[in-house]
Amino acid sequence: MQTAKRTRKLTSFKVVDFLEAARRLEAEGRDIIHMEIGEPCFATAAPIVEAARLALDQGKTAYTPSCGIPELRHAISDYYRQRYGVTVDPERVIVTTGSSAALGMIFELLLNPGDGFLLADPGYPCNANFVRRLDAEPQLVPVSPEHNYQLTAELVNRHWQANTVGAMVATPSNPTGSVIDRDQMSELYRAVASQGGTLVVDEIYHGLTYTAEPLCSALEVAEDVLVVNSFSKYFGMTGWRLGWMVVPEAFVDLFTVMAQNFYIASPTLSQYAALAALQPETLPILDGRCAEFQKRRDYLVPALQKLGFTVAGLPEGAFYVYADVSALTDDCEDFCWQLLNEHGVACTPGTDFGEHRASQHVRFTYTEPLSRLQLAVQRIERALQP
Ligand SMILES: Cc1ncc(COP(=O)(O)O)c(C=O)c1O
Repeated sequence: MQTAKRTRKLTSFKVVDFLEAARRLEAEGRDIIHMEIGEPCFATAAPIVEAARLALDQGKTAYTPSCGIPELRHAISDYYRQRYGVTVDPERVIVTTGSSAALGMIFELLLNPGDGFLLADPGYPCNANFVRRLDAEPQLVPVSPEHNYQLTAELVNRHWQANTVGAMVATPSNPTGSVIDRDQMSELYRAVASQGGTLVVDEIYHGLTYTAEPLCSALEVAEDVLVVNSFSKYFGMTGWRLGWMVVPEAFVDLFTVMAQNFYIASPTLSQYAALAALQPETLPILDGRCAEFQKRRDYLVPALQKLGFTVAGLPEGAFYVYADVSALTDDCEDFCWQLLNEHGVACTPGTDFGEHRASQHVRFTYTEPLSRLQLAVQRIERALQP
């Protein structure tokens, strides 16, 4: 059977490879500590589950409008007003099947074959594949601790090429947890706009930040940016497959046509559940979980540093530690497989996130309870003994 050439350019999502290998070991009876997958260990909060149950009892099982139920688009718009003080017309909110669908459609909208798109390296691995899938070119820009692991206006200008049509950032970032403040976001926006390109901002880890100042949304800086968000992380709903994007008004019709064709509508029960996720009584539960993640981060980072991992400061958001392992190994993949197979700790090699010094890094997720993280540190310590 013949397959399209461009699908051969796609690379595997290593975190999922490690997750699946970990699950196979668990099926054999092994105890595995999960520090690979970016998934909160908490069950979805009770009011959200209750809302889904109610929707099921009420028979809400049919397709919804392609861009989401109007109540949810309004509730998301209200959320922007309350949380960020920005007015977003609910029509500009497109509900999607996870933010993954939003990302796929955004690149579909922006890229012709041969176009280039600037992406931070290290960054979320699927973005490069979304770009490759369209016969376009992911233009990886190396970012290091000196840039707080983020694209800057200066990097955008330096790396912009004749075929570049836009740039994408994630704040907080995966895999480093670094954030972009309001001034940096404005500069970034101006740099991309002055090149005639489009800025895409992934805000899926918003709500999971450990900084004194609340994080700014790109929508506070400009209207003509594409902002992606999700119910997966802060809202703790990974398996419900629900996300959203806020897009300029001029693109709403095009995204509607894509949603109609690509998946008809997002999961109905998840949308009714998400209404409860945005209620004022649910948010304190989610903020309590964020405080718990902060405790886990505060334990894990110094514990890893003590073992010989180099971590450039405390990550400001998300639930990841991107650790330099060059003092311990020169092959992060081999290191991760050994940790998993011999010591029962699953983590993700830096090579999942790009090319820049990738093999010298490992990403650890701190979503498991503190006692499990302590056990993981003991196991890693044992693994490092000569
Ligand atoms: C930065 C980033 N963006 C997008 C996604 C996709 O998440 P979802 O499709 O569950 O919303 C992830 C998942 O880990 C991520 O880390």
